[in-house]
Amino acid sequence: MTSRESASWDAQAATFDNEPDHGLRDPLVRDAWRKLLRSVLPPIPARIADLGCGTGTLSLLLAEDGYAVDGVDFSPEMVRRATYKAGSFPGTSFVVGDAGDPPLDDGSYDVVLSRHVLWALPEPAAAVARWTRLLASDGRLVLVEGSWSTGAGLTARETVALVEGAGLTTTSRVLDDPELWGGPISDERYVVVGKRFPKQRESGSSL
Ligand SMILES: C[S@@+](CC[C@H](N)C(=O)[O-])C[C@H]1O[C@@H](n2cnc3c(N)ncnc32)[C@H](O)[C@@H]1O
Repeated sequence: MTSRESASWDAQAATFDNEPDHGLRDPLVRDAWRKLLRSVLPPIPARIADLGCGTGTLSLLLAEDGYAVDGVDFSPEMVRRATYKAGSFPGTSFVVGDAGDPPLDDGSYDVVLSRHVLWALPEPAAAVARWTRLLASDGRLVLVEGSWSTGAGLTARETVALVEGAGLTTTSRVLDDPELWGGPISDERYVVVGKRFPKQRESGSSL
């Protein structure tokens, strides 16, 4: 990570939440994300690392649901806004740090969540390996990513390969519901869930 990159995100922080899926200001969009997150997360109580947490919008949704959340972002301005939004919930913390090598304890997270960050990391395979070490034995990775019309991003196939390369089994779901994004989309957006235990021990869930 470079200070130039984090400064660029600092500069975007004030307007970041203007995008429907960033600020989740529209109740329909907010509800769509709440439902999606609930469908891929374990029951409360659970501890979640939100890596590249941005302004803390997802952290806030999770904290409102009763999850303990530790957010990490390399942009001090993003962390300041996340702390303002969600930092007063019990069990939440936000810290400036590298999402690729977060300053968090190994083996202590039920979930490592990251939305729209992995694609931008210089060493995504090393990051996924590090994120996997943060997980408790029955923990899971929840990665929301996309392959955008700009050419940026990761395809679902690429993300699945990264997660399986870290020794996890995966399930994935296409996220093409316009309510998640504030309107119709034409590019590839998805969530990949990676778990430690073999698929045959899972019980019936679609993820
Ligand atoms: C597209 S935003 C997503 C923010 C948040 N995850 C969300 O979905 O609302 C990308 C975020 O990742 C952060 N970021 C990018 N590279 C990072 C790195 N190497 N370490 C920590 N944060 C990083 C940026 O500062 C920014 O807040």
